[in-house]
Amino acid sequence: MKLVVLANREPVRRVEGRYQVALGGLAAALYPVLARRGGVWVAWDPGGSGERIELKDLLVVRVPLSKRRVAGYYQGYANQALWPLMHLFLERFVYKQGWWHDYRAANRAFAEAALREGGEGALYWVHDYHLSLAPALLREGGARRVGLFWHVPWPPLEVLEVLPEAEALVRGMLGADLIGFHTETYADRFLEAARALAGARVREDAAVVGGRRVRVRALPIGVDVPGLKEARSRVLKRAEAIQKAYAGRRILVGADRLDYTKGILERIRAFRRFLERWPEFKDRVVFLQLTAPSREAVPAYRGLKSRLFRLAEATERRFPGAFVHHYGALSRDELLAHFAAADLALVTPLRDGMNLVALEYGLVSEGLPVLSRFAGAARYLKGAMLVNPYDEAGTARAIHRGLTLSAAERERRRSELLDSIERLDVGAWAEAFLRELS
Ligand code: F6P
Repeated sequence: MKLVVLANREPVRRVEGRYQVALGGLAAALYPVLARRGGVWVAWDPGGSGERIELKDLLVVRVPLSKRRVAGYYQGYANQALWPLMHLFLERFVYKQGWWHDYRAANRAFAEAALREGGEGALYWVHDYHLSLAPALLREGGARRVGLFWHVPWPPLEVLEVLPEAEALVRGMLGADLIGFHTETYADRFLEAARALAGARVREDAAVVGGRRVRVRALPIGVDVPGLKEARSRVLKRAEAIQKAYAGRRILVGADRLDYTKGILERIRAFRRFLERWPEFKDRVVFLQLTAPSREAVPAYRGLKSRLFRLAEATERRFPGAFVHHYGALSRDELLAHFAAADLALVTPLRDGMNLVALEYGLVSEGLPVLSRFAGAARYLKGAMLVNPYDEAGTARAIHRGLTLSAAERERRRSELLDSIERLDVGAWAEAFLRELS
């Protein structure tokens, strides 16, 4: 059965004038399955040309959207209304009436483009909060098999109901035959919303609505386990050079998109507390915070950027040599080399659907993650050191603990960590989802 993926971001990047499948992430994970089935990927066309990209074994169909449509659909409804609500940041929720119109129109454009490629017989796999209405639109257009994977958290009903279109959103999603979330908690909350807002009857792991059964399952995503193991040997030399550059200091690493959900400010403050409480580490560690630019057209992200820069500069001044902030995108291998060089990773989002940095770090390095208990990954990663990222003193203690663990405990935690990460292979995840769907 032909597979048609619908996702906001296209799975390719341009390298020296030619398109390539993007490294890492969803694109790399789905490429083998798409290639096997003769796949199509429908994505937003950031250039607006509507050009189709034909790669070996993969056709990328791009949906052109006007600047105004993108402002309402992506910068507005998806990233200022849905994103904060899904991550329980009620105070960041912004709502403007016109955005919903753009969001619906963009979802319709995606669904129509997908149906033109796949027809009734294809298998449709919709991704994430940008496209919640696409499952119902695909079904109305004749699609017989539709899956949806929700990559971000799902909030409790009291929070969801703040959204004036909460019912329409849930009904849109219920157009799918299978809806996947990262954790049982998100799946259970969704079933509760389906019951309360769409009148669905809930039967174990399914919502029955309009005579149809929609399965709702926890199917946590993972990372490319064999690919990352291979990457480790490729980046080791570079990792040694990074270690040398910091002259024998033990390295801590943080890597995130610049986003208020990631807890970057709280993490830097926790690191400062750690150095204040244990000053003997001032000359023995360096914390490298690697921040990638993100969603710069959204006001909340611009505000966060200036606060982060102020705190980072003050920290670099106060603890010379012990803190470095790098702002900008790094190549995949450069990022992985930093992971391989680090003794400890600080993965402390205030809320995160899953968080794959902890998994990638665990595979590529020999260290341990200090991990937020509010990331989906905390449910699955044994051996990680769990913290409440709002409790900066607690995070400081976990950093100290991570740097002073006995060799035996480090070894035990490493082995638990690796076992749990190996269970979360993204290729196996994609196969499992599609098996359930078909
Ligand atoms: O994980 C959530 C998510 O929105 C992904 O869908 C996306 O690829 C990533 O965050 C980056 O965000 P954006 O596509 O807005 O740059």
